[in-house]
Amino acid sequence: MPNAAVIFFSHRAETYDPERTPRTLTKGYAEIVARRIASAIDAPTFQVIPERDYSRDHDACMSQARKDKEEGVFPELLYDMDPIDFKSILLVYPNWFGSCPMPVFTYLSHHSFEGKRVIPVCVHDGKGIGQTEKHLKAALPGARLLKGISTRGKDFPSKETELLSLVREALAAPLPEE
Ligand SMILES: Cc1cc2nc3c(=O)[nH]c(=O)nc-3n(C[C@H](O)[C@H](O)[C@H](O)COP(=O)(O)O)c2cc1C
Repeated sequence: MPNAAVIFFSHRAETYDPERTPRTLTKGYAEIVARRIASAIDAPTFQVIPERDYSRDHDACMSQARKDKEEGVFPELLYDMDPIDFKSILLVYPNWFGSCPMPVFTYLSHHSFEGKRVIPVCVHDGKGIGQTEKHLKAALPGARLLKGISTRGKDFPSKETELLSLVREALAAPLPEE
């Protein structure tokens, strides 16, 4: 078992899609991806949950999330988990406006990731990994940030084998320089 944890944020709600045909999911895509990775590599999971959850309504969620981003709000979290015991972190999150959801940055700001291998896994709806790697680099001083992996939520079931093999490769790769 690798000395790794899967840390994720996911918003179980109406999904965004370019055709604007939202549907409510019982589990967010990032959660599905995170839990599959965790079970494949036999790692524990930790879910980042804001105290004040984002609305289940698509448009309300979008405006709340946009406001948090524009105003640089770091939402308070319900729970915390110190990643001190883990050498590698799989950080799974949805692409929100080309970046990570603000609660992810709250979580990262609470802890030191110095010397840890951090593998970003971005779940998106067509726009890929966006600026998230750049923003994570700034938020993770001293961490060994690996090249991110991305998958479109809807496509994940058919891409699962490919994604899991990228995750295993990233866990086995030599640590990059800071
Ligand atoms: C507030 C918000 C902003 C989003 N911004 C983008 C975006 O810029 N690009 C993109 O491809 N998908 C965007 N999406 C879609 C999500 O990244 C995508 O639906 C993802 O699979 C959601 O994961 P989840 O179900 O675990 O929350 C956005 C969704 C939300 C709710």
